[in-house]
Amino acid sequence: MLNIRVQKTSNPKAKPAAGKLGFGQYFSDHMFVVDYLPEQGWVDPRIVPYGPLSLDPAASVLHYGQAMFEGMKAFCGVDQKMRLFRPDFHCGRLARGAPRICMPPVPQEIMMQGIEALIRVDQDWSPQAVGSSLYLRPTLIGTEAFLGVRASQKYVFFIIMSPVDSYYAEGVSPVRIHVEDKLIRAAPGGLGDVKAGANYAASILASTEAKKSGFAQVLWLDAVERKYIEEVGTMNVFFALGEKIKPTIVTPPLAGTILDGATRSSTIQVLRDLGYTVEERKLSMDEVVAHHQKGTLREAFGTGTAAVISPVGELHFKGEKITINGFKPGDLAQKLYEEITSIQYGKKSDRFGWTKEVALD
Ligand code: COI
Repeated sequence: MLNIRVQKTSNPKAKPAAGKLGFGQYFSDHMFVVDYLPEQGWVDPRIVPYGPLSLDPAASVLHYGQAMFEGMKAFCGVDQKMRLFRPDFHCGRLARGAPRICMPPVPQEIMMQGIEALIRVDQDWSPQAVGSSLYLRPTLIGTEAFLGVRASQKYVFFIIMSPVDSYYAEGVSPVRIHVEDKLIRAAPGGLGDVKAGANYAASILASTEAKKSGFAQVLWLDAVERKYIEEVGTMNVFFALGEKIKPTIVTPPLAGTILDGATRSSTIQVLRDLGYTVEERKLSMDEVVAHHQKGTLREAFGTGTAAVISPVGELHFKGEKITINGFKPGDLAQKLYEEITSIQYGKKSDRFGWTKEVALD
């Protein structure tokens, strides 16, 4: 067991009103912090009052962007038990991604014990309503004060928590998407499969422009040919093609430029369990357009931790509008949302072994 020092706040904050949480606007009273030093490795794991970090202005994260993060959730179940959703997946992804930007992987036991200890200390920040959850943001940054371009020798790993509402106020609802054929998110050999802050920095201009034109997000195409579909906004993307009753589900493969999403992986498992054929393969916009013309483009949806399942109602591509399922949420998207959230809130048995109960005091 890790020896986590706990310093409680003397100034607890007022809790935000239920139903008005939004996403990532409020933060719990404490945070977990651990330092990495070149000689000692990971030292001084601690829970301290939530507040600003002290960073040297020359800290490498501020200049060369050595930063990555995770996004995961803890749910207060219908049985009042706290459950983490796929914590091993998130710990593994952070550990696997860190070496790509020359950061030390955070050991699984430090991350897991930090998460559980923080939830225990701030358990009364967990929203109760089904649909809401505690969003956890584990983050790893380079902190050495040095302006030469090389890997930092010092790091800080911290975890903060934000109570969040369900992404959808009134059920799962479809969005309008601009197919981005100029700007790219990630190129082969780059950082696309790592949850590095840099990928999100690269995405903001396209999503800002899209939002100005009335779209919710962009559909990213591949960096080489601007032909193959990669992700939708910050989410993985799925298309249901072919027969109406049991369409084939196609999602881009994990080939280096897209993120290995926890909800992507869960969606694939649920779909296969329900008897659907899921193909992880390259899918071009031309193929999607051809299915639309034939009337066999059944559904499209994004998958991510924040929204779980986000149906795509319209794609705008080179001046053409492609409406999907009459701009209504599809049966499959709704079924997947139900299946995954039922496991998250302990409404259904966890047949895939995805959740971990957090022992509360
Ligand atoms: C998600 O869909 O959960 C994300 O990755 C979005 C997050 C970066 C806010």
